[in-house]
Amino acid sequence: MNTPPPFKASDHLNDGKHHLLLAATGSVATIKLPNIVSALSQHPNLSIRILLTDSAAAFLQGQSPEQPSLAHIATLPNVAAIHRDADEWRKPWVRGDSILHIELRRWADLLVIAPLSANSLAKIALGMSDNLVTHEWERWLN
Ligand SMILES: Cc1cc2nc3c(=O)[nH]c(=O)nc-3n(C[C@H](O)[C@H](O)[C@H](O)COP(=O)(O)O)c2cc1C
Repeated sequence: MNTPPPFKASDHLNDGKHHLLLAATGSVATIKLPNIVSALSQHPNLSIRILLTDSAAAFLQGQSPEQPSLAHIATLPNVAAIHRDADEWRKPWVRGDSILHIELRRWADLLVIAPLSANSLAKIALGMSDNLVTHEWERWLN
């Protein structure tokens, strides 16, 4: 299977859209992510990239009508992509390669983390950064 080319912010900066990073962590409220995305569909000039922790993804496996699969969520209006931890390491990194969480920071106008689990809140409060969502948060502090 062909690996898609790495995401580069510079390929998307002149698309005339507002760029939202919508990050979700593992909470029962994660099942509201499709509702949030659907509510935002009334804004056609919005491009959304969804970031999910592994726990958040576990809530969205197509196990019930209100918990559609990630593949379905990826087809909702305005959703440009869903990014997971493994996407940071899709290709073994060598010096000079782009870095996903840095490219996403360059791309985005706004980062929203909703829902924010107690676990991720604690990690953020302590400055811990061990997955794509917390790597992204760290970029927004600089
Ligand atoms: C069924 C289930 C429901 C959960 N609901 C919540 C919740 O509402 N709020 C919360 O902070 N953690 C909740 N948790 C615990 C988190 O998923 C857990 O702390 C996880 O490690 C969070 O990982 P993350 O912060 O990387 O997403 C729940 C766990 C399970 C299995």
